[in-house]
Amino acid sequence: MVAVILTGFMATGKTEVGRQLAARLGAAFVDTDALVESATGRTVRDIFAQDGEPHFRALEREAVERACRMDGVVVATGGGTLLDPENRRRLAAAGPVVCLTASPEELLRRLGGGADRPLLAGGDRLVRIRELLASRAEAYAGAAHIIDTTGLRVDDVVARVQSLVAGR
Ligand code: S3P
Repeated sequence: MVAVILTGFMATGKTEVGRQLAARLGAAFVDTDALVESATGRTVRDIFAQDGEPHFRALEREAVERACRMDGVVVATGGGTLLDPENRRRLAAAGPVVCLTASPEELLRRLGGGADRPLLAGGDRLVRIRELLASRAEAYAGAAHIIDTTGLRVDDVVARVQSLVAGR
């Protein structure tokens, strides 16, 4: 079993919360985007640009499969990982799945204008965030635990996840 799986939309804090939680638990931290990047030697952004989203999703599925076989680690996934039924099944079987959420306005503020999120490229970012959130609402709502991080500091979120996991 993995210690915990952090999932949810881009910029909900999965990676930062995951790193800090892993440090507190004395566990290793594994990020599925980083697994994809180390396996391919390319960035997620380049994979999207050169090979398209379906190819990225196939690589992501392999990374999820690898992460789920690791014992005691804290896992953070990419924001779209839960859209895939196979990933949902695997993750739910591997450990407690915690979905981090935040309001669209807060997500926009945290995301800024960076170009490293291919799914937000072009157009009005707030509109795009709302569209993606709406299309993903059902997948995110199926997580075992949901934490709204709007207005919370990273260490508050870490503490909440830690108590959720400890209370199992
Ligand atoms: C994606 C989120 C990204 C990354 C890829 C696709 C998504 O991860 O996996 O750009 O579909 O929401 P983060 O949530 O860590 O930004």
